Amino acid sequence: MIVPPLPTLRVVVGGVDGRGDVDGRTGLSGEAIAFFKQNGYLLLPGAVADELCDRAVDLLWSRLPTGSDMRRDDPATQVGPFSEHDFEEGRHNSRRGFRWNLREIASVPLLTDMAYSQRLCTVVEHLLGSGMLRRPIVDGKPVGGVGFDWGAGSPELSMDTTGVRGIYCTLPYRDKAPEPDGIHADAHPFHLGMVALLEDVEPEGGAFKVWPGSHRRLYPTFYRQYDTPRVLAYDHLPGDEGLLHSPEYHAEIERIRDDTPPVDCWGERGDVVLWHHRLAHATGANNRDRMRIALLADYIRTDLDVTRKDPPQPDMWRDWSEALQASEGSYSPQFASEQRLVG
Ligand SMILES: [Fe+2]
Repeated sequence: MIVPPLPTLRVVVGGVDGRGDVDGRTGLSGEAIAFFKQNGYLLLPGAVADELCDRAVDLLWSRLPTGSDMRRDDPATQVGPFSEHDFEEGRHNSRRGFRWNLREIASVPLLTDMAYSQRLCTVVEHLLGSGMLRRPIVDGKPVGGVGFDWGAGSPELSMDTTGVRGIYCTLPYRDKAPEPDGIHADAHPFHLGMVALLEDVEPEGGAFKVWPGSHRRLYPTFYRQYDTPRVLAYDHLPGDEGLLHSPEYHAEIERIRDDTPPVDCWGERGDVVLWHHRLAHATGANNRDRMRIALLADYIRTDLDVTRKDPPQPDMWRDWSEALQASEGSYSPQFASEQRLVG
């Protein structure tokens, strides 16, 4: 496969050059806000410093037990699936199949500093509203640390959002049959997701995949605008367990899969994608030779515990920034191209 060159993305963060400002005082351009409103995602090139990415990768590898079949210095050992020897199914550190989700480090200062840098917080508050972003609790509890376990569902259902989600990896598939794309919208309460690449990822290299515009179609199909009801399963009533999605949600997801080309958020180390909480997304298949390593985090407003109880609103941007509410959603074809929007 021919790998297209990495494009130079121009301004998405205020300032004069495509890499954005360094002091975090400027926010998003009007065009970027409009694009996010219409499409539910925003690529932010170079939003995290390379040096921090490198340290986060060091942290990841430091949590692999000595004696593992997988080794950092030998990419051949990093092809999935994980061996039986390296398999681990903990809520804080899961290695199975082609996925390594390290959550136990979710509130260490290095990672919270990355996700809540002045620059990223400025950008996020431009979308969520000034002064409304909840800050992390450094050295708090990791994701999935306490609470009821809803079984096969997402561990995020029982999470404490005191830090980031964690460092999530997708191992190369090499010669394995591709898995279904796993398109879905997240169910747990938050406003804005973040995925930061900690190492370069080529197209089809396992990067985050998004379905543009799907947030506007899925938002009204949920029973709660930011949350999702859960139901217990009983032996004699096995029809529902965990998340309670509406029939409209399931039908719309299938339509989105059929009519919307996804965007593969590959890129360079330090590149970030922000995404709306109801945007359809998936972890892309990794058809390259190197492991996809990314930092994931959720941003929430301080009033989420009140607004999450509301049903979907006629104006889905009711709780977001004035700039986002006021945006008419227009942007240039060039900007759309830089954001890899197809069609
Ligand atoms: Fe998800």
